[in-house]
Amino acid sequence: AMPDPALVAAGERVFRQCSSCHQIGEGAVHRVGPQLNGVVGRQVGQAEGFNYSPGVKKAAEEGMIWDHATLDAYLESPRAVIPKGRMSFQGLRSEEDREAVIAYLRNYN
Ligand code: HEM
Repeated sequence: AMPDPALVAAGERVFRQCSSCHQIGEGAVHRVGPQLNGVVGRQVGQAEGFNYSPGVKKAAEEGMIWDHATLDAYLESPRAVIPKGRMSFQGLRSEEDREAVIAYLRNYN
């Protein structure tokens, strides 16, 4: 289904909190965090050439997928989902913000 353009626009604003560490879109490269093109619906830890934490690698081995539910939980509290992860982000407390930024990410699949 086509994402709601207003939601995607809101997600672009939320993504400002991510862009110190992540790039997305044409020409995106790894920075502190991996580039995020195609991440929605994919197995965790699959951006080629990025050196993930052991926590992400373990989750990948266990078959974890970045679907709406796992992304929502991770973006709310990264450490709750990947205990030994390396994403030093306080998390998005607002469910609306998480919904919007996930719609924004999905736009780059
Ligand atoms: C990993 C999203 C903010 C650093 C990830 C992953 C996602 C993500 C989806 C998993 C990527 C994969 O499995 O390929 C976001 C979003 C953010 C955000 C949407 C804002 C709401 C940040 C910030 C930082 C950061 C601010 C740096 C301070 C990282 C790092 C990883 C990561 C280092 C790899 C984690 C590991 O190997 O354990 N992020 N991120 N992220 N992110 Fe973020």
